Amino acid sequence: MQTVPDLAMCGDLRDVLRFHERQYYVENNPLISDYEYDMLYKLLERTEELHPEWITPDSPTRRVASDLSPSFESVPHLTPMLSLDNTYSIEDLREFDKRIHKLCGLAESVRLEYMVEPKFDGGSLAVVYEKDVLVRAATRGDGARGEEMTPNARTIRSLPLTAAFSKKGIFRAELRGEALIRKDVFNRLNQEREQDGLPLLANPRNAATGVLRTKDPAETASRKLDLFVFQLGFAEDENGINRIPDWKTQENLMNYVHSLGFKVPTVEKKKCHGIDEVFSFIESWAAQRDSYDYELDGMVIKLNDLELQEKCGYTSHHPRWAVAFKFQARQATSVLRNVEYQVGKIGSITPVAKIDPVQLAGVTVSSISLHNEDFIRSRDIHIGDTVLVERAGDVIPYIVKVFPEKRPPHAMPVRFPDHCPDCGTNLVREEDEAAWRCPNLHCPAQMIQKLIHHVSKDAMDIDGLGASLIERFYQLGMIRDMSDIYRLDFQQVANLEGLGPKSAENLKMAVEKAKKNPIHRLLHGLCIHHLGRKISKLIAEHLEYLPDLADWTIDHFTSIKDVGPVVGENIIRFFSDPANREMIRKMEEYGVNMQQTEEDRPFRAAEDAPLAGKTILFTGTLLSLDRKSAEELAVKAGAKNLSGVSGKLNILVVGTDAGSKLEKAKKLGTVEILTEEEFLSRIGQN
Ligand code: IVH
Repeated sequence: MQTVPDLAMCGDLRDVLRFHERQYYVENNPLISDYEYDMLYKLLERTEELHPEWITPDSPTRRVASDLSPSFESVPHLTPMLSLDNTYSIEDLREFDKRIHKLCGLAESVRLEYMVEPKFDGGSLAVVYEKDVLVRAATRGDGARGEEMTPNARTIRSLPLTAAFSKKGIFRAELRGEALIRKDVFNRLNQEREQDGLPLLANPRNAATGVLRTKDPAETASRKLDLFVFQLGFAEDENGINRIPDWKTQENLMNYVHSLGFKVPTVEKKKCHGIDEVFSFIESWAAQRDSYDYELDGMVIKLNDLELQEKCGYTSHHPRWAVAFKFQARQATSVLRNVEYQVGKIGSITPVAKIDPVQLAGVTVSSISLHNEDFIRSRDIHIGDTVLVERAGDVIPYIVKVFPEKRPPHAMPVRFPDHCPDCGTNLVREEDEAAWRCPNLHCPAQMIQKLIHHVSKDAMDIDGLGASLIERFYQLGMIRDMSDIYRLDFQQVANLEGLGPKSAENLKMAVEKAKKNPIHRLLHGLCIHHLGRKISKLIAEHLEYLPDLADWTIDHFTSIKDVGPVVGENIIRFFSDPANREMIRKMEEYGVNMQQTEEDRPFRAAEDAPLAGKTILFTGTLLSLDRKSAEELAVKAGAKNLSGVSGKLNILVVGTDAGSKLEKAKKLGTVEILTEEEFLSRIGQN
């Protein structure tokens, strides 16, 4: 872009960017592409570089201001930040409803209006605006005073830096909300952390609350937090008069907050008439909780009428006009009996806690990863400790905390071993890695894990060759390294107890099929540290013949977009080992494909592909396909997969139990909604 705006245009540009930020972060409905947004943002950045005197503190470029850091000073809230009373059953809710009728002096036959919305499970924040500008953000603290962390809150894109309260005569306002991290963002962050050898974040809630209290706002920005506002707790004009009652109902009040540019529950909430309607709305959310984008721990029920709210009043702990309904517990306490150490495919040692089995949201949990030595040390874990265990949604079970006060006398701290539990070799730990590793490349436990990975679905995908068979073949000396899989003696396989000629024949066919695999599968199957499926595919796009990798330089690797020096060095190290080169040579001798195939080359859908140029999203449970295969089919048909419902989405394919995504898409009205069958027939699959 050539033009450089003048002062007035600079202001307009800021407004345009703010508008699109709202569409993207608050409304989930972007109207321009990310590229176009970036171009506008860069133009503003360049203009502000040329004219620093034009910069305003609420400019979209000022979200992470490097010269500021949060003070964490204790600051008073404008009104106390109270908690909520909890309920767990329909009976509790009926009691609550009865109490409200009594407090309001109404007959029980009157059906009251309640606003019902999710109880978000993150970190609560209070944000203060004065003369329309965000001046302070603080955590809940003890309810009366919180910790100031404004620079961190400024990085939250769904939190406007300015909001036009003054249009309604409001001089000072305090809003309350919950800072959250989307589950998919959380999972992606953890994948990146794993690749970078950083300790994993336990769950989305800790990932959000932890980062609110960092001294580095750029770190907060990297977690891409959202802020759902659920309350306007304080709003007064210049004469100190409370303006909240002007809105009459909770519903109006929150619509007003939304109109100012804040993210509030929209499709997630419902106005219910009477407690039975409240309960059925809660039940529908309990059923779709796992498919929602954020972690929830229940629903909140709020009396809609603001005058009645005031009549009900407050205890020192909670408002009497609201209550939380808590979903089924996902936490339980148990006792840690032992720690076992598992050897991974690249030799990483993972400590696994064996606990007394507990039921968590319908699943029995008895083993839990303790990640690495730092995790054990930071929590000072002892054998015999009582631990609090949680299993949330799509997230694997983890230990939330230990209770040192319940520790039996003479309990022994968990001591991380200094040698491999399988082969006895001394463990090593590289400077910037969290894991201890067994450096013995011939360590049997490591070798077995490598072989299991090699034949797994994501790698060579050898049907019928699972972990137990691999272990058996290894123990019998039938396979020692990956190449041996491709010269198995199937006569010997047929003679093994429990197998027989039919199984041997099937296995032979699966191995023969795997020999023809595209080279990205083989690359991924080699178990090179950091070389996952995605990077293997990127490299295979640029690789004619797999053994050529032995001659690649680091620059060759890093010239490929998204391939970094660390994985490049690991591949170079792998190929510099003569034993590995020999293994690849043998694989080729046994007929394993080493040449780039059609599937390895970058895929470009034809212009007339059935879904060419469309964006697509799958939601709910699909019957005939797993999610990954459905997404791959969509790509082959020319579509691009999106991760959320927004104005950019063209097609939503709905399986059973589709949740809020379907509602959102219907509300947008621009999304074509297909059943699984319709999708398949559209791409010519049935
Ligand atoms: S209303 C006056 N609504 O839950 C009470 N709270 O357990 C105002 N929370 O401290 C609370 N989602 O941090 C309200 N939709 C929601 C909420 C919500 C999450 C949190 C909030 C509060 C805690 C109480």
